[in-house]
Parts: sequence; C-alpha cells; structure tokens
Amino acid sequence: MATRTPLMAGNWKMNLDHQQAIATVQKLAWALKDGKHDYAAVEVAVLVPFTDLRSVQTLVDADKLELKYGAQDVSAHESGAYTGEISPVFLSKLGVTYVAIGHSERRQYHGEDEAVTNAKVKSALGAGLVPILCVGEELSVREEGRQVPHTLAQLDGGLEGLTAAQVAGLVIAYEPVWAIGTGKTATPEDAQELAEAIRVRIGELYDAATAQAVRVLYGGSVKSSNVAALMTKPDVDGALVGGASLDPEEFAKIARYQSHTL
Ligand code: 13P
Repeated sequence: MATRTPLMAGNWKMNLDHQQAIATVQKLAWALKDGKHDYAAVEVAVLVPFTDLRSVQTLVDADKLELKYGAQDVSAHESGAYTGEISPVFLSKLGVTYVAIGHSERRQYHGEDEAVTNAKVKSALGAGLVPILCVGEELSVREEGRQVPHTLAQLDGGLEGLTAAQVAGLVIAYEPVWAIGTGKTATPEDAQELAEAIRVRIGELYDAATAQAVRVLYGGSVKSSNVAALMTKPDVDGALVGGASLDPEEFAKIARYQSHTL
C-alpha cells in the first residue's frame, strides 16, 4: 500500500489581511517548533487570501519555514481579458503549492459547477500547482441518503479528462456542507464512508496505484478535540480546517494530532 503523508491544510477563507497573515504565520511556525513538529510526518499548509500570498512567501522564504501555502481559488485561464481573476501562473511565481478548487462556498455563491471545477483543476495542473478539489453534499442530500452518489458525481466531473499521473498527485477534500462552520462534525465513520468511496471510485476510473496515491482530506468543523479520531480512519489522510486554522495555537495542535490520546 502506498504511504500517504497526512496533510493538514488551513483554509483561512476571507479572513486575515496581509499584516495579520504575517503575525499568524509567525505564531504558527513558533507553535509548531515548540511542539517539535515533524513536517516529514505531517505536512502543514495555509490557504490564504490572494493579497496575503506575497507576504507569506517572503516570510516562509526568509525564515526557511517548512510550511506550505496556497490559494483558495484560481482562474481557469492562463492570461487575458478576465477582469478580477488570478492566473495559476501568477500563483506559481509566488511559490504557491496548493490551490483549493470548487469549495462549497464557491459552488454556492459563485455558481461553480463541474465544468468550472474541471477547467480550474486543469489550469492549476498546467502551472504545476496541486489542486485540492473540494466535494461534498448539502444537508438535504444527506437526509435523502444520497451523499455517496452526489459526492462522486462532483468527483467524476472535476476529474474529467485527467490522466492517472495527474490524479495521483491530487488532493481531494470531502467537506459535507452541513458540517462547515456549524460546529457539527461528521462522525469519523461518515468521513471514512466518503473517503473510501472516493478512493474506490478513483480506482475504478484509473487504477489501484492511483487510488492509493491520492490524498483524501476531511473538512467541516475540525478541531483539536476531534481530529485524532477522524485520523484513525484508514482513508482519511488529513483535514481541511476552516475556523480553527485562524488560531495558530489551535491549528498547531491539530497538526500534532499524532500525539493526542484518544
Ligand atoms: P470549518 O472548519 O470552519 O467548519 O470550515 C471548513 C471548511 O470549509 C474548510 O474549507
């Protein structure tokens, strides 16, 4: 079986300006250092607003931090008359590793569908970025018991036309919409159900090696108090953390889940 390095990614959403970003990343780096965080054992990343990226890059480079950073969205296009959009090439020039694509807030407020997420995944890959493709069902879908087919349809659409080698390097984040910012975390069993279904589907679409290589994260009200239980599940390879990632001490604790007692 492939060994997948767990990834703890903090999605700051539209919080923390560039000055606050510097202070927060400094505190996070200290908090991780205090706990002697082993970055080889658990990767840590922050997905920050576009306007924070240059400041975060400068800090990470100057202090040689092992922290990775990324963006929360990207244009489907490389350049041209797309007012207000941000090219994946610009992100790549800023040392960006990850980019979230198809977050439920983008789907909900900006009408992003599978055609859009697929185009953005391709544009990100074209610039050497690692897409974190976000999928997950709304409450009404779960109440009807259709969370698996719903989420897999989002997955299929997002992956359309990609090669196995491209998919193997991807990160998929399962974020049930009803668990985002609500304090209602999916149970570890709920997270495992979908993480496993996602991996099985990738195995069907591609092959077993690709399915074993791809990292599947869980997102939705992850905190230091529930992360360790989620991480016991075999197909859950990390977390996409919203609110709790804004507090550097708390996010560092999440990243150190391996030292928690269950
Ligand atoms: P919360 O952790 O605040 O629920 O947000 C989850 C999320 O949307 C991460 O992308």
